[in-house]
Amino acid sequence: MKRFVVLSGAGVSAESGIRTFRDSDGLWENYNVRDVADIEGWYRNRKLMLDFYNERRRQLEKALPNKAHETIAALERYFEVTVVTQNVDNLHERAGSTNVIHLHGELTKIRPEDKADKGIRDIGYKDVNLGDTDERGVQFRPHIVWFGEAVPMIEPAAKAVSQADILLIIGTSLNVYPAAGLFRYARYGTPIFLIDPQKIDLDYPNFRQIRKPATKGMEELMEILVEQYI
Ligand code: OAD
Repeated sequence: MKRFVVLSGAGVSAESGIRTFRDSDGLWENYNVRDVADIEGWYRNRKLMLDFYNERRRQLEKALPNKAHETIAALERYFEVTVVTQNVDNLHERAGSTNVIHLHGELTKIRPEDKADKGIRDIGYKDVNLGDTDERGVQFRPHIVWFGEAVPMIEPAAKAVSQADILLIIGTSLNVYPAAGLFRYARYGTPIFLIDPQKIDLDYPNFRQIRKPATKGMEELMEILVEQYI
């Protein structure tokens, strides 16, 4: 089976009602990134950060995967698929994708604030508050990668991209590194498709943009895949 790697960002979940970050109605219009998505913000004001992610979790509970998530999950019938997502939602998994790498963490998980990759636990859609601690009395924090922190999953993600036969980039403005640089690990000449309503030019030989929202874009991509690869 050919290996198919998807690099997804906030745009894939936009049609599920989850706001992107940098569009005109994006989350960063209403919030200061330094307050809610930066490790220094955590030490300055934990309550503000916890409230922000509690709100995101409640919103996620009500959201449903859309046709784009579902079509990406259906690719597993034809390809060995790895989804590398910058999203902290669980909509790829809920649509049925079985191999998802979360580069920026997961909303439904928490860990003690003194650990980078240990003591992780599932909390589903529940709130986390100041004073919620592990058995040692250490405050829990969202299991999210904030600005200023390492991205532990970048290595398995880069490895997956380097082995891809086909790459799809969907719904990301490619502003945030190291995620934005991942496609450069692709073997030279690997076909790269990009689905996004905004024009994005990649300086890359075998690149094609489908300039549509995720759901419509995935329909068009499936037609191309059926014609050329399946
Ligand atoms: P952005 O908000 O930067 O970019 C969203 C992209 O989705 C843009 O290119 C939009 O044009 C596109 N888009 C909007 N609606 C769409 C739709 N219906 N279908 C397809 N595409 C659509 O989001 P990301 O690139 O994912 O990190 O942001 C990267 C990281 O920045 C996030 O993971 C987050 C943030 O800081 C953390 O919080 C650690």
